Amino acid sequence: MLTIKHISKQFHKQTVLDNINLEIHQGEIVSILGQSGSGKTTLLNIILGLEEPSEGNLFFKGVDITNVPMEKRPFNIVFQDYALFPNLTAYQNLTYGLKNRKEHSSEEEINELIQLLDLTKHLDKLIHQLSGGQKQRVALGRTLVMKPQILLLDEPLSALDGVIKESIKARIQEIAKKLHLTIIIVTHDPEEALTMSDKIVVLDNGKIAQYSTPIEIMNRASCHFVQEFIINQLMIKQRNIQEIFQQSLQRKES
Ligand SMILES: Nc1ncnc2c1ncn2[C@@H]1O[C@H](COP(=O)(O)OP(=O)(O)OP(=O)(O)O)[C@@H](O)[C@H]1O
Ligand SMILES: [Mg+2]
Repeated sequence: MLTIKHISKQFHKQTVLDNINLEIHQGEIVSILGQSGSGKTTLLNIILGLEEPSEGNLFFKGVDITNVPMEKRPFNIVFQDYALFPNLTAYQNLTYGLKNRKEHSSEEEINELIQLLDLTKHLDKLIHQLSGGQKQRVALGRTLVMKPQILLLDEPLSALDGVIKESIKARIQEIAKKLHLTIIIVTHDPEEALTMSDKIVVLDNGKIAQYSTPIEIMNRASCHFVQEFIINQLMIKQRNIQEIFQQSLQRKES
């Protein structure tokens, strides 16, 4: 569905993306995983059309879209800070994009989406009256009513934690399956990437260190960086959690 060929990007002679090649299929959830400054947002912006590549081309369903402006690409993004309109209600935010383009979603489809996102009780609230998780769901809904062919998410879960994070994760996966939507998610959290996606692009300093399924990454780390950045981090987490369970068990027994 989306092919990225030899994409590079320089800012003031600094190479931020170096010869990126990717093939993303319809209905896949793909995570772009990497440390701060590795080029994740830049890659997302190039896909969206907000930023031009210095070299290389992008193809959507076989058509070269490298020079197609952002508003003509059938993609949509949820920005990290949501960028919701503070003076409008949740419902007005949700349907904002449909003002002049009602053909995108019918009333029925909007209602279905509101239910799917569990926003029924919050529609009349202004943005500052919503919790972080509710804002996140409004931002997601506002993008989905426009029926993008590819949904781009920049760190969608980083402001959330605990139960809310898990519930939004599950919701994104449910929506992807139901709408057969292709989703590209930027994250710096290995656990998030490995538990949410069909495939993961590991970016190391603007280069692809590995592009494969979560299982392949766990079983066959392609290099030292993947081993250090992903697997070792997860092993520390696993050990910490096991310790907590063990301690609580020992307490119970004594
Ligand atoms: N418009 C710009 N002009 C100059 N340099 C830029 C510009 N945008 C990004 N950069 C640089 O490109 C590099 C990659 O930035 P990018 O925002 O893609 O990183 P990131 O992986 O999204 O990081 P983070 O996890 O912190 O969001 C950084 O070194 C950044 O300073
Ligand atoms: Mg970023």
